[in-house]
Amino acid sequence: MSGALVIAVDGPAASGKSTLARRLAEHYRLPFLDTGLLYRAVARRLQRRGIDAGDAEAAAAEARRLAPEDVAGVDLSGEVLGGIASQVAAYPAVRDALLPFQRAFGGEGPGAVLAGRDIGTVVRPDATVKIFVTASAEERARRRHDELRRRGEAPIFAAVLEELRERDRRDQERAVAPLRAASDAWVVDTTELDADAAFDAARRHVDAMR
Ligand code: C5P
Repeated sequence: MSGALVIAVDGPAASGKSTLARRLAEHYRLPFLDTGLLYRAVARRLQRRGIDAGDAEAAAAEARRLAPEDVAGVDLSGEVLGGIASQVAAYPAVRDALLPFQRAFGGEGPGAVLAGRDIGTVVRPDATVKIFVTASAEERARRRHDELRRRGEAPIFAAVLEELRERDRRDQERAVAPLRAASDAWVVDTTELDADAAFDAARRHVDAMR
């Protein structure tokens, strides 16, 4: 093996891509970036300032102002923030503002693992390995529903499913960097795979590709 190992992990919300990407990063001892956090941090800046997510210019301005303290050690989880994030992620100027940081991530080191929607297609089309993680909408909604319950909330399954479908629609139909598998991505459907099985399969794939 020669050169850096860059692993791009893309997929829809609640597909298990972040869990898988984090485990690959640990296994290969590489830095990990969950790029969804950047969009979520922009959403949070807007939310805090009471700015509507429909304001594309304000969203781009907040994206340009993003600082490390907007992401590090901040809880950016939750459906509301995820929904706003997917709205602002459709603005080209927001994506442009967030691109250089993502592209440079892990640049000088042994490589990196990045998780998101457009890593293999836009951010790192040169990645050593591209993985596209998917699962049925029902299974993803079930996981999200269980996770919310564990956090003490009382979610309604049908609402969780509808929210996920809405987010899929927005992420897949936007004009810039829509969610899709790169033509050279390895696709793993986790509908019937648990986290360990998905990791084992992905690790074998990475080892075969590097
Ligand atoms: O992955 P996560 O659910 O945290 O991402 C929140 C939203 O950010 C996504 O629904 C998507 O619209 C946007 N996003 C994106 N490109 C990425 C990562 C996230 O458009 N690389």
